[in-house]
Amino acid sequence: MSTRLNMLSPEVRDNPYPFLAELRRTAPVVQVEPGGMWAVTRYEDAQYVLKSTHLFSSEGLRLAMDPAWLGRSNPIAESIIFLDPPKHGRLRTLVGRVFTPATLTRLEPRIRAVADALATKLVESRTVDFVDAFAMPIPATVIGWFLGLDASLQRHFKRWSNDIAAIGGARPEDVELMAQCRRTIEEMEQYLQGVLSDRRRSLGDDLVSDLIRARVDGESLTDSELMGFLFLLLVSGLETTANLLSQSARVLAMHPELFARMRETPSLIPRFIEETLRFEPTATATLRTCTEDTTVAGVHLPRGSTVLVSLASAARDENHFPDGDSFILEREGSPSLSFGHGSHFCLGSMLARMEARVALEALVAKVHRLELRTEQVDWTPSLTVRGPQTLPVEIFPL
Ligand code: HEM
Repeated sequence: MSTRLNMLSPEVRDNPYPFLAELRRTAPVVQVEPGGMWAVTRYEDAQYVLKSTHLFSSEGLRLAMDPAWLGRSNPIAESIIFLDPPKHGRLRTLVGRVFTPATLTRLEPRIRAVADALATKLVESRTVDFVDAFAMPIPATVIGWFLGLDASLQRHFKRWSNDIAAIGGARPEDVELMAQCRRTIEEMEQYLQGVLSDRRRSLGDDLVSDLIRARVDGESLTDSELMGFLFLLLVSGLETTANLLSQSARVLAMHPELFARMRETPSLIPRFIEETLRFEPTATATLRTCTEDTTVAGVHLPRGSTVLVSLASAARDENHFPDGDSFILEREGSPSLSFGHGSHFCLGSMLARMEARVALEALVAKVHRLELRTEQVDWTPSLTVRGPQTLPVEIFPL
């Protein structure tokens, strides 16, 4: 390819896979737009970048999340996703104390009750937007529990998460967006500060209390680390999981025979979720900054360059996933990199998998099949997250 590929162009947004396949074949490490970032598209190279934290830092991006125009600090800039070892390890161990199998076991029946109620409502309607009616409310409810926020606030979560994610990419002319991001940070902080103060007064049997209690070598999370982590949970756990559910519904709508198999044998659902995560990764990329001049696959990358690690491309790498453009339920072999790799591997991966399993079990128990109302999809305009913004479907009850 002679001109740089624009990862945000409408063609790439509609269907990135042929463009990524071409990069893997002809220029596996190459500069792309926006901003001349270096795209790394092969599975092995992606793994190499993600595990070489001394060469490819997560901290560089923290600056982008904390721009001067905010006029204050952005709490999420204090969170683990923007830290390198050794600071990252200390914080990860502390917050890891609440992401345990026991937490999942505690949450599962509550998630099932929510998913069952939503599935019942689905079958009462004929045509719905699946994102709004099912895919978004499930992770929004779970994140609400994690953050200790009132259910009435869930309707703001998507806007909050979008605004926080938009901070890094705002251009000087986006004056209204900047004002909105400032308002969102203040709004979120005000609610979460209220939750933290309540729990500090009286610790309970909930996740914010568990975070306050967490200790490693006698050390606990500071106030700004706690706030940063709560911001991160919203941004990292909401849209990614909602998109996994929407992508699962698209695959099931396009393959009615798979829908029937899931209903007959629900124990296949976890396998279905793994292949959906590979086939349509909802976290399509993650970014790093080079700490020194270095090379990847023989290509020189100057110190300070931004690297776009394409998880979506790694998921279709023909050397790891033969016939990778097909959805193959029985697929064996390499794990996908959909939850990342190395020290920043997704902290919520088991939770996301459990949410998706419980949600799909509830769906197949009540719905006979789904039909897409349109082939056209309006995909999220993002470098790092992919999913349909709406998914109009017709519901055929059992
Ligand atoms: C399908 C759903 C999800 C996907 C595809 C996903 C994907 C990812 C990826 C790729 C990373 C690594 C980022 C990097 O290396 O820079 C990550 C990190 C993270 N994820 Fe997820 N995620 C999902 C759901 C969740 C959920 C439900 C939560 C929690 C409620 C969560 C919390 C986190 C956190 C806290 C990190 C940062 C870990 C660290 O920096 O050590 N994620 N996720």
